[in-house]
Amino acid sequence: MYTFTDKGGRSLTLRPEGTASVVRCYVENHLSNQSSPQKYYYLGPMFRYERPQAGRFRQFYQIGVEAFGSANPVMDAEVLSMLRHFLASLGLGGLKFQVNSIGCEKCRPGCRESLLDFFSDKLDGLCPDCVRRYHLNPLRILDCKVRRCVELRAGSPKVTDSLCGDCRGHFDELQALLDLLDIPYLVNPDMVRGLDYYTRTTFEVISEGLGAQNAVAAGGRYDRLVKEFGGAETPAIGFAVGMERIVGLMKKSGGHDVPAPAVFIANIGEAAARESILIADRLRGKCLWAELGEAGASLKSQMRRADRLSAEYVFIIGEEELKAGKLKWKKLSDSTQGEISLSGISDFFLKNH
Ligand code: HAM
Repeated sequence: MYTFTDKGGRSLTLRPEGTASVVRCYVENHLSNQSSPQKYYYLGPMFRYERPQAGRFRQFYQIGVEAFGSANPVMDAEVLSMLRHFLASLGLGGLKFQVNSIGCEKCRPGCRESLLDFFSDKLDGLCPDCVRRYHLNPLRILDCKVRRCVELRAGSPKVTDSLCGDCRGHFDELQALLDLLDIPYLVNPDMVRGLDYYTRTTFEVISEGLGAQNAVAAGGRYDRLVKEFGGAETPAIGFAVGMERIVGLMKKSGGHDVPAPAVFIANIGEAAARESILIADRLRGKCLWAELGEAGASLKSQMRRADRLSAEYVFIIGEEELKAGKLKWKKLSDSTQGEISLSGISDFFLKNH
């Protein structure tokens, strides 16, 4: 936690993550009275007093997603599929999904006992953090990155070996759904995650191009947290994406699609300029990205700008076209061109965009 004393002598802690705040908001505003499931997102700065290193900052930004009200593994799969599409839309490849189940309050005590037993004669070799974890939450020893701890845990009991029937069923169904959605994943029984609120599903998205701090996104189920915050029993699941890590990968890959306008409207003459703002306005009303050529600028310079923006289509409208109730279109990627009537522009995009 990033905790410090302010000038008024008060102890302040900066938020380390967003899940707890969203849960508090859900409980305080009685959002459980509204229909389920409910889906939220947030983005903003988070603060952790960790030792800074490449990809790990004391202030960083997260985009988070939380879904409340469904215990069904379909919701887990939906959340993971959304994360997959989000990352793909940024043009990021080579990312690996790792999933695990860390069980529930019914099956975890058994696992805890076997871990305490397994590590009881290895305490001297564990790092100081893991010695602390041994007493507080021995599961966390399983994802310590210290080499000696990794070696000492070879052959340790796995959480997935002691899942109760319900948790086993949930995890099996999640894997079947990930197969159905064609989301490649790896079951990593050592992934228990650093936050203590998780139950059942946990997951991380790992990039090999990021060094030690290789998780670009992570999350899991937290079916007990709403109740712990004083709300009704409400299952929930979510994830957060680390924005700096995503940006780092985008810079490295250099291959992501730069967003481009659907259409650039080049215009020649005053009346055509007026018509082109009308066309742009209508297209924008249909959520299409339209850019206007500078009124009065030469056609050549307008075309240059359309090229620079990598517009998908260029519309060209001058006095002649206006009189004929038509415009010329050109597709920049393959230089195909043609004419459409001014009243047929929406249909044109329905067919071609
Ligand atoms: P987290 O694994 O602590 O989970 O953080 C999620 C992501 O935030 C990480 O995978 C990483 O990309 C980024 N991140 C974390 N710490 C740092 C740091 N010091 N510097 C740069 N990036 C960082 C959570 O925060 C949970 N609230 C996720 C969640 C939402 N679980 C359920 N719902």
